[in-house]
Amino acid sequence: MVRVGFIGLGGMGRYQAGAFAKVKGCAVAAGSDVSPESRAEFAREHPGATVFEDHRAMLRAGVDAVVLATPTGLHASIGAEVLRARLPLLLEKPMARTTAECRRLNDLADRTGALLMVAHCRRYDPYWGLWRKAVAAGRIGRPVLWRHVMAGRGPGRWFMDERLGGGPLLDGAVHNYDFANALFGDPVSVVANTVKMDPAVTAADTGSAIVQYPSGNQLLVSWSWAVKGLALHDILGPKGFIQFGIGKQTVAEEERKTRSFCCLTDAAGKETLLSVPREPNMYILQARHFLDCIRRRTRCLTPGTEAIKAVAVAEAILKAGRAGSARKVTW
Ligand SMILES: NC(=O)c1ccc[n+]([C@@H]2O[C@H](COP(=O)([O-])OP(=O)(O)OC[C@H]3O[C@@H](n4cnc5c(N)ncnc54)[C@H](O)[C@@H]3O)[C@@H](O)[C@H]2O)c1
Repeated sequence: MVRVGFIGLGGMGRYQAGAFAKVKGCAVAAGSDVSPESRAEFAREHPGATVFEDHRAMLRAGVDAVVLATPTGLHASIGAEVLRARLPLLLEKPMARTTAECRRLNDLADRTGALLMVAHCRRYDPYWGLWRKAVAAGRIGRPVLWRHVMAGRGPGRWFMDERLGGGPLLDGAVHNYDFANALFGDPVSVVANTVKMDPAVTAADTGSAIVQYPSGNQLLVSWSWAVKGLALHDILGPKGFIQFGIGKQTVAEEERKTRSFCCLTDAAGKETLLSVPREPNMYILQARHFLDCIRRRTRCLTPGTEAIKAVAVAEAILKAGRAGSARKVTW
């Protein structure tokens, strides 16, 4: 039985604890948070767990593995304490606020031999895996342009603090950067432009970027946490395109509740629906993978050495975005 301790019991920490609670062979053993409200919620949901105000007290009390889900700006310092305690760590994305912080965490994981897995949950997502397989198999040809446009009132609070969260071009779009890196290879350069629509926040709340890959593939992201909801998500290639959702097809309501769909349109305009079951979801599969890596002492799919590349893309975009210019991606 792997006793898992959670640091940061806000939205994501508690969601992670809920996912781990559904996985065999582990126990939601402990949680720590500086906020009494977060601690109370966690204690209500996991009555068997011990709750701490200070994560150091939790580490001293003893757990076998840690999930860290504090604001991103604290990942590097608290993550380092967990690795120094030689405990396997599932660290929420983005791995850290800067590539320099990521490098320090990777060095520490190397030196201590502790497992450092970053929670890039989309890599464990059967739904994103579905279109990834179709693209990798060349079903829409090559090169491809993956477009993801998101606008919505963001989570606010620390997320929009430049130092703690970095705004949507780091916190939200880091899922895209990591997934594109997995699919297209190491990123080369970016062109970007960012803007702040809300004068009260310190991070850029809106921006667009194109990330270029050696294969000629491109990722186009445009995120805003300053304006109300809108989403566009598709992948275009010379032989067709893939859209999220069911395209012009009809699917029974019952089936839509239990399966996720994307729609592949070929060059002749013929639509083919691709689908996977919604459960088990990516967080449960991610938790299973983390626990398997601990038990079997195997390398994980999303180590810090991969996750740093996603932070590197974000860093290049945030720097290029201020000037509306281009920048190489380095890490
Ligand atoms: N993978 C995903 O889909 C996903 C989704 C949302 C958030 N996240 C990531 O999860 C992390 C947390 O985000 P969230 O949405 O849960 O934020 P949140 O604000 O809801 O929760 C953060 C919690 O951390 C606590 N905290 C702050 N300082 C602390 C400290 N020193 N020690 C212990 N706890 C402390 C806060 O009190 C709060 O309860 C972020 O890195 C975020 O990017 C990932």
